[in-house]
Amino acid sequence: YRSRREQEELYGSCLLSRGEAFTRQYVAAPGCSEHETGLALDLADGAADIDPVCPSFPDTGIFEDFRRHAAACGFIERYGRDKQALTGIAHEPWHFRYVGYPHALFMRENNLCLEEYLTLLRRYPHNGEHLYYRQTEIFFAGAEAALPGLLLPEGCVQLSGNNTDGFIITVWRQTV
Ligand code: DAL
Ligand code: ZN
Repeated sequence: YRSRREQEELYGSCLLSRGEAFTRQYVAAPGCSEHETGLALDLADGAADIDPVCPSFPDTGIFEDFRRHAAACGFIERYGRDKQALTGIAHEPWHFRYVGYPHALFMRENNLCLEEYLTLLRRYPHNGEHLYYRQTEIFFAGAEAALPGLLLPEGCVQLSGNNTDGFIITVWRQTV
């Protein structure tokens, strides 16, 4: 977890040492960092001197192993090389974000960043066709639909805010 204050300090020191263009590519504006939610983590090669903005995360060995297993544990590589136009952040192979199972697997299998996945889920509204994936049923409910008392399916249900205007609902379907 990184407090807003810490994000401000990181942003400010990066501005001074590396300039504005670089900082905007690699450091989220204070108040907008996933690190301030506690849902993201940066991983680094265990060197003596770790760059706090761009730590070294090679694509070999244990780093590659971690990357391969991350999605099964609910983590996504958040800022992909080919997604910069959508995320607004440069490629950050060290930054992983928890989105949970099975969302991380779906995103990786379909090469979707979080922005794309949240957009896609709008095609599966609570009162329409749902997305069925790996023993789960996933759908979207806008806040206006959820507030008056959305009828949820029976079973193990998880609600996650999409951080703008609604909820992602994940239902673990019973297996027989
Ligand atoms: N480095 C990422 C974008 C952050 O500052 O949250
Ligand atoms: Zn990070």
